[in-house]
Amino acid sequence: MIGVRNGARRRARLVALGAEVPERVVTNADMAKVVDTTDEWIYSRTGIKERRFVADDEAASDLAARAAEKILTEAGMDPLELDTLIIPTASPDHLFPATATLVADRIGAHRAAAFDILAGCTGFIYGLAQGTALIESGLASNVLVLGAEALTRITDQTDRRTCVLFGDAAAGALLVGAPEDEVTGFLGFELGADGSGGLDLVVPAGGSRMPAQSGPYEPAQSCIQMNGREVFKFATRVMVDSCTKLLEALEMHVDEIDLLVPHQANQRIIDHAISRLGIPPEKVFNNLERYGNTSSASIPLAMLEAREAGLLAPGDVTLLVGFGAGLTWGSTIMRYEPT
Ligand code: UT7
Repeated sequence: MIGVRNGARRRARLVALGAEVPERVVTNADMAKVVDTTDEWIYSRTGIKERRFVADDEAASDLAARAAEKILTEAGMDPLELDTLIIPTASPDHLFPATATLVADRIGAHRAAAFDILAGCTGFIYGLAQGTALIESGLASNVLVLGAEALTRITDQTDRRTCVLFGDAAAGALLVGAPEDEVTGFLGFELGADGSGGLDLVVPAGGSRMPAQSGPYEPAQSCIQMNGREVFKFATRVMVDSCTKLLEALEMHVDEIDLLVPHQANQRIIDHAISRLGIPPEKVFNNLERYGNTSSASIPLAMLEAREAGLLAPGDVTLLVGFGAGLTWGSTIMRYEPT
């Protein structure tokens, strides 16, 4: 990518969506064959019925490359036109290089800058903010933000507290520059982080704190560990706070929101938040029943399916909100203008 600030003012606009999910469907009944759980417990506590698992030889970049190709095809864009590829992920192929560099190479985005964002399930919102900033500063024109997760590869499949929750997917959105006078694109962002709760959702080993070679560790130390109750309390609080602060900053009323697409972690968290915010359930799109928590892929995957269901139409004012490891949170309000 090469970009210079030329004084042109413009807005970032989301023009295309796409996703790739693995073929293998794992139901709650399947999970109950592996750990001490039931379909009744999982569904009533989380709202999840099934999730997708990558194959044993698949990683996040494999799903991401296929999703990226779908998004570029929808937009009719050559990969060489991409200025930046941003991959929010909590389950990258490796500690480094960034998964985004591997995907850029795979799809032929040879002129793109490529980097990952590590903000847990909030990664897609952080990535949208980054892409918007690049475009609106004049440094980039075409930015692909693509959440990519192979979470089941870093989940302890013997830990019933976590293994029933997570699934694999890649999903994202293409952002392009539009003239500033068009009332479209991203109206604002509210982003935050509170590292005091960082260890409530952590993969302990494999980094510089507990290097892989200084093991052997229990297998669980290399997997997602979560203090579910603390994360639950945090999530219900920040979802409401973040959306409220953003609406206030934009001087908007909640009734102006046509569609809310929240991070898909737990139906009880979503239900609590929308009732506090005063958003009716028919304005909220959820699909965690079929995919579980796919972290940074969950919001764009839900946006895509909302569009397929006729709930995300051009001009719609859409509120996106996420929370996750870090602990982080973020929300944005955008007008969806695909053309
Ligand atoms: O994307 C961001 C990251 N994650 C989240 O947003 C997750 C936030 N947290 C949650 O969604 C919920 O806390 C969970 C779904 C993880 C857990 O639900 P909970 O209602 O908070 O359950 P709990 O942790 O309080 O556990 C209640 C009981 C425990 O048994 P005891 O100690 O009361 O005897 C658990 O051992 O449920 C037990 N339990 C299970 N039972 C059957 C935990 N997992 C399971 C399971 N099947 N899969």
